[in-house]
Amino acid sequence: MHEVAPINPWVALAYLASGILFILALRGLSSPASSRRGNRFGMIGMTIAVVTTLITHAPWKSGDAANSYVGIDVTAMAEILGAIAIGAIIGIVMARRIAMTAMPQLVAAFHSLVGLAAVAVAAAAYLNPGAFHIADEIGQIFAVSRIEMGLGIAIGAITFSGSVIAFLKLNGNMSGAPIMLPARHVINLGTLAAIIGLVAYFLTDQSPWVFWTITALSFLIGFLLIIPIGGADMPVVVSMLNSYSGWAAAAMGFTLGNTAMIITGALVGSSGAILSYIMCRAMNRSFISVIAGGFGADDSGGGAGGSKEQRPWKPGSAEDAAFLMSQAENVIIVPGYGMAVAQAQHALREMSDMLKKEGVNVKYAIHPVAGRMPGHMNVLLAEANVPYDEVFELEDINGEFAQCDVAFVIGANDVTNPAAKTDKSSPIYGMPVLDVEKAKTVLFVKRSMGGVGYAGVDNDVFYMDQTMMLLGDAKKMADDIVKALSGSGH
Ligand code: TAP
Repeated sequence: MHEVAPINPWVALAYLASGILFILALRGLSSPASSRRGNRFGMIGMTIAVVTTLITHAPWKSGDAANSYVGIDVTAMAEILGAIAIGAIIGIVMARRIAMTAMPQLVAAFHSLVGLAAVAVAAAAYLNPGAFHIADEIGQIFAVSRIEMGLGIAIGAITFSGSVIAFLKLNGNMSGAPIMLPARHVINLGTLAAIIGLVAYFLTDQSPWVFWTITALSFLIGFLLIIPIGGADMPVVVSMLNSYSGWAAAAMGFTLGNTAMIITGALVGSSGAILSYIMCRAMNRSFISVIAGGFGADDSGGGAGGSKEQRPWKPGSAEDAAFLMSQAENVIIVPGYGMAVAQAQHALREMSDMLKKEGVNVKYAIHPVAGRMPGHMNVLLAEANVPYDEVFELEDINGEFAQCDVAFVIGANDVTNPAAKTDKSSPIYGMPVLDVEKAKTVLFVKRSMGGVGYAGVDNDVFYMDQTMMLLGDAKKMADDIVKALSGSGH
C-alpha cells in the first residue's frame, strides 16, 4: 500500500464547506423561485474549492508533511491561471450569447469536455504515475490506482463520445431519429464485456496496449450507445450523460487525490442518476432499455415523418382564437419547444392576463419533457412571471382536459400526440401525453402543417374536428391574439 499524507485540517474544512455549498446549490436549483440563490451557492462553493486546491498545491506551500496534502505539486501556476482566465472568458461570452433554446446542446458540449478532461487526467497519470504519487519506485502503478484509472478512462471516454453525439442530435446536425445498426445489441454487449475484461486485466498488466485499447473501446461504446437513441428518449440520455460526467469527475478526483472533486463528482453523478430515473418514469421507459441503446425503438423507424397523407384540417386566425378563448370558462395552455424558440412566454402571459380579466379560468399544463431540457417550460414561464399556482404538472392536470373548453397548444407537439397511447409502432409509444384531444376545442399554434416535433411523427390532433390550426410563429400569434382581445372592447 502507498502512504497517504495526512490532509491539512483547514483544507479538509474548506472542501467540506464547498461540498455543503454544492448540496445547498442542488437544493436551490430544485425550484425556479430559489434557483438563483442555488446558483450563487454553487459559484461560491466552486470558488472555495478551486482556490483551496491551487493554494495547497502551489510551489510556495509549506514543505512540512503534516501541512501538505497528498497529490501532485503544481509548479506551472502561471499556465494554470492563464488557462482558467481563457476558459472563464470563453464561458462568459458563451453564457451571454447562448439562446435559451440552445442550452441543452451547450450542456451536452460541456459534458463532453468533462469526459475528455477525465481521459486527459487518466492519460497524464498513466504516462507519469510518479508525479501523481501513484506508483512504487520501479514505476508499477498501485492496484487501487489502476482501478480508478481504468474506470476514469472508460467513463470519461463514454461521456465524451456519447455527449458529442447528443450534441449533434440536439443541435440538429444529426437526425433526432434512431440510427439502428444491425446486431447492435451483440456489438454493444461484446464491446462492454471487452472493456470490463480489459479493466480487470489492467490490474495484472499495465502495458500501453491495455490502457489505450480500453480508451479506444470506451470512445466507441459511447458512440454506439447514443446513435440508436432517438425520438422521445433523448431527455433520458441527456441526464444520463450528466450523471456519467459526474462519475468521470469523481474518478479523476481519486486519481488526483482531491476530496472536493470526489464529493462534487459524486453529487453530480447521483443527482444525474436520480434525474434520469425521474425522466424514465415520466417517459414510461425502463432505464435499462434506454441505455441498452434504442432497445424499445422499432427498427423501421416507427413511421417517422416520411410520406404524410393529405388530410383535411381547419385553419383559424388570431381573431378566431381570441373570440373562442374569451367565451370560454376554462382554458388550458400547453406550451412546448416552439414557445421556447419563439420566446413567446411574455406574450403568452399577457394573453392569459387579459383572459383572466374577462373571467376565464386559465391554467398551464407542463409535460415533464416539453421543450429540450428538464424544467425548460417552468423556467420560461417563471421568467415571464406566470404565477406558480397556475402551472400544473401532467398528472395533476390531465384529468381536466375533458372538462375544459379550450386547450391552447403553443409550440408543443410530441407531448400532445395521442399516438403515444395507441400506436405501438410510434417512437413515442408508451410515453404519457397531455390529453388535449379531450378538450371541446383545441387551438394548435405551429408554423406549418409540414413541421414535425422532435420525434419526427405526425399528430392526429391536427386533423380532428374540434381542432383549429393557428399557423404562424408562436410569439407573433400570441401578440396578435392579445391585440384581438384588446380590440374586442374589454
Ligand atoms: P416538439 O414535439 O419538438 O414540437 C415542437 C413544435 O413547435 C413543432 O410542432 C414545431 O412545428 C413548433 N414550432 C417550432 N418553432 C416554432 C415557432 N417559432 N413558433 C411556433 N411553433 C413552432 O416539442 P414538445 O411537444 O415540447 O416535445 C418535446 C420533444 O423533445 C419530445 O419528443 C421530447 O422527448 C424531446 N426532448 C425533450 C428533452 C427534454 S429534457 N425536455 C430533451 C431532448 C429531447 P413547426 O415546425 O411547424 O412550427
